[in-house]
Amino acid sequence: MTSLVVYYSLEGSTRLIAENVAKVLEADLLELKPVKEEIKPNSFMKFLWGGRQVFLKKMPELAPFDKDLEKYDHIVIGTPVWSFTYTPPIRTFFSKAGLKNKEIALFCCHDGSKGKTLENMEKALSGNKIIAKSDYANVFKDREDKAEKAREWAATLK
Ligand SMILES: Cc1cc2nc3c(=O)[nH]c(=O)nc-3n(C[C@H](O)[C@H](O)[C@H](O)COP(=O)(O)O)c2cc1C
Repeated sequence: MTSLVVYYSLEGSTRLIAENVAKVLEADLLELKPVKEEIKPNSFMKFLWGGRQVFLKKMPELAPFDKDLEKYDHIVIGTPVWSFTYTPPIRTFFSKAGLKNKEIALFCCHDGSKGKTLENMEKALSGNKIIAKSDYANVFKDREDKAEKAREWAATLK
């Protein structure tokens, strides 16, 4: 069984979780990268810019990727939480990928307020089977603990 872990990460937390999940599942990894990253990590303005993108339902253009999504029946999708929901690059991915009939597990990283991120992702992925959801708070404070939690979660998906 070949699995794929797809994620976007501005500041590295989601990347850490995605990499640990992929290791356990022996999955391929796909990091989504906007062609133009308008938001600078570690700046205060990131909240304004990111929040605005979410509010306007922006779909930033993504750098091309070489993964053939048809090849994968099992996909894990991870996002940071922005303004209580999933990020604009994930919105672009959902719109372009046209995923159907896949088994999908979802996760998000946040600072304590995940809002309806996972529910919103599930809605956007209708036509697929959502098999599991998980979330990780304050990963940057507790990297090894959260990485371990991710590995344990991934083991349940096998
Ligand atoms: C634009 C923006 C909006 C955010 N909104 C939220 C939020 O609504 N709730 C929350 O708990 N954290 C929020 N955060 C914090 C991130 O979700 C959190 O730090 C996450 O772990 C970052 O993941 P990353 O390191 O993969 O980018 C926000 C961060 C940014 C940049």
